[in-house]
Amino acid sequence: MEIDVRGFTGEPRQFLEAGELAFGDRAHDDDVPAFESLFEPDRAIGAYDGDRLVGTAGIFSFDLTIPGGVMPSAGVTLVGVHPTHRRRGILRRMMRAQLDHVHERGEATAILWASEGSIYQRFGYGLGTMLTRLSIERDRSALRRPLEPSGIVRFVDVADAKRVLPPVYDAVAPTRPGFFARTPAFWDADIFRDPEHWRRGAGPAFYVVHEADGQVDGYARYRIRESSDQDGPRRIVILTEKLATNPIADLELWQFLVGIDLVSSIDAWNVAPDDPILLNALEPRRLGMGLADAVWLRVVDVAAALTQRRYAADGRLVLDVTDEFCPWNAGRWALAVEGGMPIVEQATDAPDLACDITDIGAAYLGGIGFTALADAARVRELQPGAALRADVLFRTPRPPWCPKVF
Ligand SMILES: CC(C)(COP(=O)(O)OP(=O)(O)OC[C@H]1O[C@@H](n2cnc3c(N)ncnc32)[C@H](O)[C@@H]1OP(=O)(O)O)[C@@H](O)C(=O)NCCC(=O)NCCS
Repeated sequence: MEIDVRGFTGEPRQFLEAGELAFGDRAHDDDVPAFESLFEPDRAIGAYDGDRLVGTAGIFSFDLTIPGGVMPSAGVTLVGVHPTHRRRGILRRMMRAQLDHVHERGEATAILWASEGSIYQRFGYGLGTMLTRLSIERDRSALRRPLEPSGIVRFVDVADAKRVLPPVYDAVAPTRPGFFARTPAFWDADIFRDPEHWRRGAGPAFYVVHEADGQVDGYARYRIRESSDQDGPRRIVILTEKLATNPIADLELWQFLVGIDLVSSIDAWNVAPDDPILLNALEPRRLGMGLADAVWLRVVDVAAALTQRRYAADGRLVLDVTDEFCPWNAGRWALAVEGGMPIVEQATDAPDLACDITDIGAAYLGGIGFTALADAARVRELQPGAALRADVLFRTPRPPWCPKVF
């Protein structure tokens, strides 16, 4: 039977169940209310085999921090096709419908976390942010200089966490591209819920805050997992989120985490690529560091996207852009920045750089430079020094980072 890809009409539970099935899981009853609180039915796409829902693609309407401001961005979520129907082009058709919808709505970018990095470049997504993984051996975790505590670290219960964590997040979010604004519903559904099936064998979530002069300026959320090997029981701290508005609070949270007794290692699968621990560990090699792709970013409207961000210097750059999946972006675009403010127009003069839309997605938040893209044989320099000129424009003080999968 012909598969129909169209706007989803049905109950949120049905969408969640179909999506979870694609990921090899079952929707849990207690996830349904949380999902309902976030679900945007008018932005959900379904693939139907008759009246059976066999594919899903959803969107959260985010406000994304970008260099110099905030932009509405489509947060792509719960993309899946049932194992009975895969490799017949259903994802491709859902991506087509979804990106057309995002374009019509006037959002200049779409972002997502990929279950497998190999899936989304073909649809024009670039490597927008990276993450750092850590697995810190606790007995080799000393800081280069022990900190004189300037504040206190204390546990808070969920009710208190609801009050004191969001302001910390809201203070940090504008300072780093890649963060999206969290609504109260998002906090409740994704951070403050702690169902058993999310723990993957670990214990319940703990919340600690750092407080200085009576002000909470940082927090960490973590669990403890117990396992055993030939040496006996092992306890691991699984850090799920840590944010602070200043480096001292951040380091004091680290000092607390590596100081928890009866623990052999502290594992964090997603910290910022420039987390302060990296420059403060006495033995950086013992941090068990790894780098991985995180948020993939699709520039949906190149002129609007380049106009919405701000730049680190003035200058002019002509980009020759290819975009197979969204051909309205293809062509020559001049970016002229004066006083940090851009004007973007179609151009007829000689281009400086030839790049694919995936490359602009990688450079957009300031994560990957044009020199790196040229060195990787992705971007082609058509005028000598053009990649460096582009780097000077697109540079951001901090690498982009997104603390949470959505
Ligand atoms: C990933 C998934 C959505 C693909 O759906 P699908 O309908 O089988 O994909 P399509 O048939 O439309 O394939 C589109 C293209 O992507 C490629 N592709 C699809 N899944 C891929 C994968 N897992 N890895 C690499 N390439 C993949 C196909 O080869 C095809 O390439 P082509 O267009 O160049 O020929 C589906 O396998 C799935 O639901 N997986 C489990 C859940 C998941 O990982 N979802 C993604 C969440 S981010």
